[in-house]
Amino acid sequence: MSLLFTRRSKKTGKDEGIVLPEHIGIIMDGNGRWAKKRGLPRSAGHTAGAQNFRTITRYCSDIGIRYLTVYAFSTENWKRPQEEVSALMKLFKQYLEEALSDFKDDSIVVRFIGDTSAFSPDLQELIERTQRESADRTGMVLNIAMNYGSRDELVMAVKSIASKVHNGELSVDDIDADMISSNLYTAGQPDPDLIIRPSGEYRISNFMLWQAAYTEFIILDKLWPDFTTDDLDSALLEFSKRNRRFGGV
Ligand code: FPP
Repeated sequence: MSLLFTRRSKKTGKDEGIVLPEHIGIIMDGNGRWAKKRGLPRSAGHTAGAQNFRTITRYCSDIGIRYLTVYAFSTENWKRPQEEVSALMKLFKQYLEEALSDFKDDSIVVRFIGDTSAFSPDLQELIERTQRESADRTGMVLNIAMNYGSRDELVMAVKSIASKVHNGELSVDDIDADMISSNLYTAGQPDPDLIIRPSGEYRISNFMLWQAAYTEFIILDKLWPDFTTDDLDSALLEFSKRNRRFGGV
């Protein structure tokens, strides 16, 4: 938990203090339904979703969020029609190019979580360049989950630890929760305090299963392209009222 953020209440006109989460995760869901409602192809929903990704990311950085993780493409999303996957890959390229310059002004550190080796060589190059060029910045850390699946991430961590045990670098007794955390893509980062899922689905969809052990969830009945900075403020206000006990009393 970090800074206190103040916002003017629309109901009372008074300032309300909000304790900000240090790390927010967002499952950017509902692009397809947003497009369908408008008689548009699903790819138009992803374009609107990508624009919103930019708006919400900049807003999180502006109000002092330290870590933001967005779920952009899961290990299961390859099962979608080829046309939709291609449209998403095109969008990733376009928005990452823009993010490179756009997020520079906000000093945002861009990181990728997931198995990026599955992407085309030019997208991989862009991912590498984005990470490299933003690595020394000091602002919010933005994790973009692409070809990410939490089960895959855990398998990767288990394999890495097992091979160290096999080589004699570690003993079985050295294995603890911190060691598992430090073998995940999010090594060194705090667990998410809050995960927001627009679109009204009550599912975690293979997102940060280990890291979300004590995360607060907020599910909104709104599709991702319609999710606004006001919706984020309301979620933050609700979060600040939650009584987090982490298994205690
Ligand atoms: C889920 O909605 C959304 C996705 C699988 C894609 C999310 C990607 C973006 C918002 C683009 C972000 C861009 C960058 C550069 C990070 P859905 O298609 O499953 O919606 P539905 O449940 O209504 O069908």
